[in-house]
Amino acid sequence: MISEKLREMLVDQIGAEHTAAQRYLAMAAYFARQGLDGWAAFFFRQSEEEREHAMRIVRFLLDVGADLTFPAVPEAQPRFASALEAVQKALAWEQEVTRSFHRMAETALAEKDYTTFQFLQWFIEEQVEEEATMGKLVQIVESGVNLFQAQAALPSE
Ligand SMILES: [Fe+2]
Ligand SMILES: [Fe+2]
Repeated sequence: MISEKLREMLVDQIGAEHTAAQRYLAMAAYFARQGLDGWAAFFFRQSEEEREHAMRIVRFLLDVGADLTFPAVPEAQPRFASALEAVQKALAWEQEVTRSFHRMAETALAEKDYTTFQFLQWFIEEQVEEEATMGKLVQIVESGVNLFQAQAALPSE
């Protein structure tokens, strides 16, 4: 049985994953409006991945018989000062998500909840990839390369 504290952290994370999904949708729209369809496609896919992350947590909470709520998802605007600001924000969001999973893992270990600890491993590993991917995007944009030409070099995930 999962503790109330960990249950609340995981419910919050369902909200965070849906928030990420919506933020990436906004980012996809930002790029699509500039005709940067490759960048838009990347962020549409990223948005879907975030929704899958939320679903993974939903299924886990159902499997362990925990209560579920679905937190409100804040509005996201497809407005950024620049492509660099957009990808830097994406990297910062992913770093924040990584810290959340680390906090949950610490809590699970402290509670000797090895089941939840094990469940969290997938996300901790996934976050290494997420941060690396967003870090690459920052490098691409920072290089000053033409964003249309850079589409061929986008990470495929
Ligand atoms: Fe995620
Ligand atoms: Fe992510």
